Amino acid sequence: MSANVIAIDGPAASGKSTVASHLARLLSIPYVNTGSMYRAVAYAVLENKVDCNDTEAMAELLDSIKLDYSADEEGNFSLSLNGRFLKDELVTPEVNAAVSHVAAVVAVREKLKTLQRSLAEKQRIVMEGRDIGSVVFPDARWKFFVTASPEVRAKRRLDQSKESYSSATLEEIAKSIAERDRIDSERPVAPLKQCEDAVLVDSSNMNVEETVAFIAERIR
Ligand code: CDP
Repeated sequence: MSANVIAIDGPAASGKSTVASHLARLLSIPYVNTGSMYRAVAYAVLENKVDCNDTEAMAELLDSIKLDYSADEEGNFSLSLNGRFLKDELVTPEVNAAVSHVAAVVAVREKLKTLQRSLAEKQRIVMEGRDIGSVVFPDARWKFFVTASPEVRAKRRLDQSKESYSSATLEEIAKSIAERDRIDSERPVAPLKQCEDAVLVDSSNMNVEETVAFIAERIR
């Protein structure tokens, strides 16, 4: 099963989503962004005002939410939460602040791991996240760890959010990214880390095309 997966992991705002989606297009296979699944659960946690440290309340919430992936004609997946397609709602400052706490909950990770594994059963896919090569598909044939310097990552996220440049916003974004990385790296279950058998891709001085070409070259 794992031979079907190209695993791309890395820290927040490293550019891995853009790289993963371009790579998938180049290879004509679907792309799955697992961060959006964690974001959807965080969105549900906030909407239902659930305390993510309350095990029972979280179990109840997880039972009540249905996450679905439906593929478009090109095979790309869109995520829906209880029948509602979510996009901009998943990248608000509130979700950014909550998501790493929600992603540290074991029951959340178990539910999403099952969903992630099921998506690779029948097809080759590019799957991107924090623990794809380490936990979800430890025997994936291709594993990449995409990173970039903290300054480059903050600038990329700012460009992506189309907010106006000011040192204050840049500093705020850098702080929020660093805080998510800290929580993601320090959690006991499935922490963010580069696996020994993953190829390190430092994209600090590479644009999207160069990074995709670097990865595609290794796969070929
Ligand atoms: O795109 P960005 O780097 O901002 O983050 P994301 O990929 O959307 O992931 C959002 C959050 O979900 C991360 O900070 C992690 O807390 C969590 N996540 C995870 O724990 N495991 C994954 N496989 C993917 C995301």
